[in-house]
Amino acid sequence: MKISYRILIMICLGLCLGSVLQASQVSAEGLSFAWEERFTQTAAPFAPVRPIAEFEPASSVMIRYPLGIPTTLVVALAQTTDVLCLVGSTSQMNSAQNSFSSAGVNMDRVSFMIASTDSYWTRDYGPWFLFDGNGEYGVLDFQYNRPRPGDNMVPEIYANEFDLPYYGMNIKQTGGNYMTDGINTAAQTRIAYSENSNNQTNVNTQMQNYLGITNYHVVQDPNNTYIDHIDCWGKFLAPDKILIRSVPASHPQYNAIEATANYFAQQNCAWGYPYRVYRVNTPQNQPYSNSLILNKRVFVPTMNSSYDAAALQVYAQALPGYEIIGVPGSAYTPWESTDALHCRTHEIPDARMLDISHQPYFGDQNYSGEYVFSANIIAHSGAALNADSLFGLPRMLSAPMD
Ligand code: ARG
Repeated sequence: MKISYRILIMICLGLCLGSVLQASQVSAEGLSFAWEERFTQTAAPFAPVRPIAEFEPASSVMIRYPLGIPTTLVVALAQTTDVLCLVGSTSQMNSAQNSFSSAGVNMDRVSFMIASTDSYWTRDYGPWFLFDGNGEYGVLDFQYNRPRPGDNMVPEIYANEFDLPYYGMNIKQTGGNYMTDGINTAAQTRIAYSENSNNQTNVNTQMQNYLGITNYHVVQDPNNTYIDHIDCWGKFLAPDKILIRSVPASHPQYNAIEATANYFAQQNCAWGYPYRVYRVNTPQNQPYSNSLILNKRVFVPTMNSSYDAAALQVYAQALPGYEIIGVPGSAYTPWESTDALHCRTHEIPDARMLDISHQPYFGDQNYSGEYVFSANIIAHSGAALNADSLFGLPRMLSAPMD
């Protein structure tokens, strides 16, 4: 049983008036249908469903061996987070163990799940996650949009292995083309529709029923590559922050990318004000948006390029309090503009997280002796929250003073 308390935190702030509180190309065509059916359709979760965002607390990160990431990244991930590594067999597990141990990975934090996979793109085939209307954590499966039957089984195997509620939504999807704000919003490129017979109503309905997406941005891919995954050009960093790549005016995709950035700048975030749009310069199509947020750390693919430092700086400015870690690709599996660090990793949200949702103030606020903050707190651990010992600590993120 989950415990939810609505609390009102009254905080008197001695602030002056006018302070601002802000808080390898694969085509699915022409193949037999068997690969698509590697999932089990279920009823939707109990409503209202909340999608879980990448920037929420994570308990572990899913990778796959043989790796598509450098072993040095496994070392870094296991420094602070548990790592769940998919392996096809016990002998593969042994070779992964040997390779990780000799590279200095903290093996206390590594566990293995046997699943026979076709590729290392855990982002694309790995499970999506949600909390249902009872606050229960759930694993969401879908038809992976690639003919990789082993990969397509992973969410179901995962749910079974960890004895978690499993949901299957009957549309073609891929994690590299999905990002959510953890409230009610998702953004995807048009393949979300075109790979589902352009049945927009069906896709919209399923995204709402299985994930709670009522604010759904399905946009043209501005990159002009084969893949059309949103992680190749954009990323939600927070409910009100979005990162979009930028290129010089001479780049052939300049107009399309600017149009996409303008589109998001004109949309309101779930908190009711326009997105703050951050831009990362990718003149040679560097995959800087293809990063992984894991708890308070961001792992950004670097390209041994003179633009790397600026890219890391953009993340640092957008995400105060986060550690930003640049990660060069491995020689065997280099980062590509259509396929980098985000594609080859998948955070697993903490099913027992303490969820504090709170609507920040935005813009000028009239000051009349106090500001009132309201927060909804859910202890997904099931632990009791004692209303008389809860207190809030306001954080001033931006404070222009006259
Ligand atoms: N060649 C792979 C595919 O098309 C690349 C996957 C890249 N994934 C991503 N999230 N961008 O399946």
